[in-house]
Amino acid sequence: MTKEEALAEVAKRIAACEKCRFSPDQNPVPGEGNADAQIMFIGEAPGKKENETGRPFVGAAGKFLAEMLESIGLTREDVFIANTLKYQPPGNRDPLPEEIEFQKPFLKKQISIIQPKLICFLGRHAMHAVLPEITTPISQAHGVLLEIDGQHYLPLYHPAAALYNGGMRKTLLEDFAKIPEYMDQIVVAN
Ligand code: URA
Repeated sequence: MTKEEALAEVAKRIAACEKCRFSPDQNPVPGEGNADAQIMFIGEAPGKKENETGRPFVGAAGKFLAEMLESIGLTREDVFIANTLKYQPPGNRDPLPEEIEFQKPFLKKQISIIQPKLICFLGRHAMHAVLPEITTPISQAHGVLLEIDGQHYLPLYHPAAALYNGGMRKTLLEDFAKIPEYMDQIVVAN
């Protein structure tokens, strides 16, 4: 099975997960991008636009993410973009710990298929979902490269939080600018 096929299989299982939906008419937002991506971005949960289109990060935060990718010479097609939750929580509220736990196997499977060199967390929910052992607040963890069990991670502020906050926006842009340097530093052992 190719990586694309394996990811399509996961997307099918997400679409079939009635227990993951918050209402019957919701669209799944499994994630999208390059199955061979070296960098994977993980956000929190789909918002309204994402629920409407079935695609991750297509609203205002997504536009900002695309601009940041462009600033380091990348496009959405070069990376893989996913979320911790695959369906939009009611009223756009934060995901609950039990919802994250229940849906986490999908994200874990996507990571294991893609095997990215670097996983960038967009916000604290993604960081806590994948690395519950990291208790450092995102305000301290952001921009610092982590290596755990041979996998590299970069916690970042969430683009939606940074969009209208000048200081956070500047920090996120600065952290993003470190990505190419970090990618050069990361040596993947096989
Ligand atoms: N915010 C997220 O965390 N994910 C999306 O897909 C869109 C906005």
